[in-house]
Amino acid sequence: MVTDAKKEEVRDSADIVEVVSDYVKLRRSGNGFMGLCPFHNEKTPSFHVSPRLGIYKCFGCGEAGDVFNFVMKMEGVGFNEAVRSLAERYGVFIPEEEVPEQDEAHLLREGIYHALRYAGLFYYRMLTESDEAEVARKYLEKRQLNQQTIKKYGLGYAPDSKDSLYRKALADGISEEYLHQGGLIKYGRNNQDVIDTFRGRLMFPIFNPSGKVIAFGGRILGNQKTAKYINSPQTPVYNKSEVLYGIQVARNEIRKEGEAILVEGYTDVLSMHQAGIRNVVSTSGTSLTAGQLHVIHRYGERLQMIYDADSAGQNAMVRGLDLALMEGLEVRLLQLPEDEDPDSFVRQFGGPALLEYIKSESRDFITFLVKKGEAAGDWDDPLRRKRAITDLVRHIAHVSDPIAQETYMQHLSNLTKIGDRVLHQELSTMLADIRREKQRERRRNERVKVNEDTPGQGKKEGTQDEEVRGTRADLSRKTESSKADEAPLNLEPKFEKEIIRLMIEYGRSMVEYIGRQCNEDHFENSYLKDFFLDIIDRYQAEEEISIEAYAAREHPYPAIVGEIVMDPHAPSERGQQKAGRLLVKDVDPFRTARGAMKALKIHFLDRLKTQLEGEYQRATPDEKQSINKSISQVGLERVNLERYSPDELFDTPDHTDPEES
Ligand code: CTP
Ligand code: MN
Repeated sequence: MVTDAKKEEVRDSADIVEVVSDYVKLRRSGNGFMGLCPFHNEKTPSFHVSPRLGIYKCFGCGEAGDVFNFVMKMEGVGFNEAVRSLAERYGVFIPEEEVPEQDEAHLLREGIYHALRYAGLFYYRMLTESDEAEVARKYLEKRQLNQQTIKKYGLGYAPDSKDSLYRKALADGISEEYLHQGGLIKYGRNNQDVIDTFRGRLMFPIFNPSGKVIAFGGRILGNQKTAKYINSPQTPVYNKSEVLYGIQVARNEIRKEGEAILVEGYTDVLSMHQAGIRNVVSTSGTSLTAGQLHVIHRYGERLQMIYDADSAGQNAMVRGLDLALMEGLEVRLLQLPEDEDPDSFVRQFGGPALLEYIKSESRDFITFLVKKGEAAGDWDDPLRRKRAITDLVRHIAHVSDPIAQETYMQHLSNLTKIGDRVLHQELSTMLADIRREKQRERRRNERVKVNEDTPGQGKKEGTQDEEVRGTRADLSRKTESSKADEAPLNLEPKFEKEIIRLMIEYGRSMVEYIGRQCNEDHFENSYLKDFFLDIIDRYQAEEEISIEAYAAREHPYPAIVGEIVMDPHAPSERGQQKAGRLLVKDVDPFRTARGAMKALKIHFLDRLKTQLEGEYQRATPDEKQSINKSISQVGLERVNLERYSPDELFDTPDHTDPEES
């Protein structure tokens, strides 16, 4: 910690007007200064700075604080770092022991920063001055990236030689240790040979938000058969999962706009910036992480994702969506015209055209995904439609803000014309799923720790968890490994078995009917859950679904079919007739299904509730609140389920009665 006395010394020495002026154009007003607020978008100044009091306040958005707050906000740093950087700037000496970070690790980081900065300058000079870099300069010209952009983003060129950076840096007094720890050089086989990490590549320095070089990406310039990009390894100053390319330039713009545009590539950032769109950052090669989104959220509330139009890009975008929703960002998605990426779009049509395109084509994630599903034909087939809606609800379940979540639910209900009640039922399933997944994740992490400490012990736990894991498992594999092959299968509870029976007995129309209202998560018995999934798979693959077909499948399907069809307690047992078929009891099989589905859902909610209550015990206060909310939601749904008869709860099928067909 910095002592209070030192802190005050820094405050007294720092000139708040000067510090603010780095970001805001101030003009004198009364006995203070005013300007356009850097924290929100405004046209008339309401941001005041009082040098006498050493504080700033915006009368528009309410942001206020002292010089430390300002630096923390603008540079996205913590208090200690703000004090330190101001102390440095205004020549206040802070003795080492007062700054705990001034230990070895801190010194190492400082050394690495220094080496990286040196390398950045070296590459930049190479690019702009060396003969060898002509090919790189030509390349940039071809990509229409101009001098200003090159300078602003500090692009460079790494010479195509074994160790030119290394030798030059050593000669200039940079320590080998820092070069190595910064990922700039590598050691050859015998540990004697030193090689520059980047050779013969166009260099993209990666900066942290306050503008320090922390890593590099290097692109090949021709059609060499090596990786198009290589990137710095993780280092003490470079944690890939928190880094956004372009953030040092974009952060103020993001703050002003309240919105960040997220793209995939380095060149997308550069082209868009050059075309006047400045709130752009990119993930650059890593898949989007929670850490990156957290950084974005420091500067803005809204996120516009524009990934490449190819399917890889589109899939990555949807994968990143949930993380962004969890972070609490308002997400909009955009699909570019076929074969385009932001870079190519801007180069062809210009910045204003892209902005125009975003304005007219960008959608909230629900509308976006619904449209996408429509185009893919997901809405024409009842089961695929059901899946698509389930997927949408799953995305909504990731929304952190309850009001936003509810708004999305209503939006979805309007778009799909699916009742609110049904959707909410699905939502609580999903919320439970997510919580379970998080818990698993936590356990996994704990296990990793255990594994690291005692490798022998961790393994046992690992195998156990495989069993617990409720994800899709191959039925035949499951029993193969267990010696329970001969023992009767446990196929409780009855209504789960009943649902499987109805599906295999009545085939497609029944599968469609049940599949629309239930999903695998509703099942408690893992055999029956897997059976259910298999039926759905066969439905989608348009394969035969019948008792006969399953009786002819591999173990253990025949055994399960036997148990189901010949269950002495099954409601239809008394009607059992030829070949074990059970036709008589189901006067209206859909009605039977409704009864079973009601029981299925009630028991599902009961399990969910028990589980939530267990989680509640172990939860942090923050989590407790959301768990509580879920518990009451579950309770409410259960009351609803109890209150209505099966016929009221579930629609009747809109196709022909299977008995007539
Ligand atoms: N990337 C990477 N390693 C690779 C390929 C790509 O790190 N082997 C990262 C880079 O940050 C790149 C981004 O993923 O910018 C997007 O990849 P791509 O679209 O292939 O690259 P662009 O930068 O768009 O390259 P270009 O337009 O020059 O082909
Ligand atoms: Mn690209």
